[in-house]
Amino acid sequence: MQNCQEIAAGLYYLGGNDRRIALFESAYPVPRGVSYNSYLLKDEKNVLFDTVDNAVGDVFFENLAYALGSETLDYIVVHHMEPDHSATFARLAERYPGVTVVTSQKAAAMLKNYFGFAGRVQIVKEGDTLSVGRRTLSFVGAPMVHWPEVIFTYIPEDGILFSADAFGTFGALQGGVFADREVFGREYLDDARRYYCNIVGKYGVQVQNVLKKAAGLNISLVCPLHGPVWKGEDFSWYLEKYLTWSAYAPEEKSVAVFYASVYGHTQNAAEIVASAVAAQGVRVRVFDVSVTDRSELVAEAFRASHLVFASSTYNNGIFVSMEEFLADLKAHNFQNRAYAVVENGSWAPQAGALMDGILSQLRQMRRIGEKVTVLSAVNEESRSALISLGRSIAEDVKA
Ligand code: FEO
Repeated sequence: MQNCQEIAAGLYYLGGNDRRIALFESAYPVPRGVSYNSYLLKDEKNVLFDTVDNAVGDVFFENLAYALGSETLDYIVVHHMEPDHSATFARLAERYPGVTVVTSQKAAAMLKNYFGFAGRVQIVKEGDTLSVGRRTLSFVGAPMVHWPEVIFTYIPEDGILFSADAFGTFGALQGGVFADREVFGREYLDDARRYYCNIVGKYGVQVQNVLKKAAGLNISLVCPLHGPVWKGEDFSWYLEKYLTWSAYAPEEKSVAVFYASVYGHTQNAAEIVASAVAAQGVRVRVFDVSVTDRSELVAEAFRASHLVFASSTYNNGIFVSMEEFLADLKAHNFQNRAYAVVENGSWAPQAGALMDGILSQLRQMRRIGEKVTVLSAVNEESRSALISLGRSIAEDVKA
């Protein structure tokens, strides 16, 4: 049965929630589920903004049929071709054969590649407009946020922005469609950070470019493809988060300690550093990289200002879970942090120099202190060096 909601005059939310999916994009755990959003604008012409993942296809088509009533669908604007939004496109084209697809040149090519689509397509680019009655659709290029074909649509008469994946989040909707800033900060922000950093995080420059465009718009409503819809007054708070994340600036002055430990001695070293930091009244979080999902590790690295990497030496290299984490940070264009390195090795400690080699290749990284070497287990000498490192990090955070 349909469950669509009118979220503004003539604008309907048609999406649905998937709470059974284990891994979003076959990569990211989503224990709180995810929503796939689609919107219908009813004016002299009826315009659908994106379709949905197959997981919620049935309710989406019921919603669309209900919202249209006896009217027809004139346009579908395709903002983004990733299949979590386009998987039901072929079914849509079959049901509404008269529909005109409005999209970017690159998305049109993808429609052919994914679906062999040969229907009516109107190509739009940055600055193009399309009148649909009382409202105008104004198109904004958003390449590499986070695919190359992405566009946004802005309705100047109502101040409504359709922002594709931008401003989305993991986490299913809880009945209501609108974001409540307090609830979002408490129940969604960690998921939103994890979503942004892992999915879009590599493309900070492109996100900054599109945020500059958005800053010039009068916005009353932001409609992303995942998560709640934002009203203007709360949106500025969320926009600040995006400005921070996309600039690779720390979200807060705090320390994240990441350790990869085989038998517990490297963990012991990491905990000693963390305790020395906390003793100075500085917020610190500690993560075992072998058991924490990497998407969470990446998000925590984006959050904190100061990072500690502690790893056992393994096969003459970095312990595998730490090596994979560092590779992921590099792949996400991670940069602009203070960091420290701790290594452990029973006969030939190597992990510290190798981690430092990777981290120093990232942009604007600043190492605090010398690496601390633990030989098998922490002793009085290395304990003292670890405490000293923790204090130096805390002082730097407070500086
Ligand atoms: Fe939600 Fe890039 O797809």
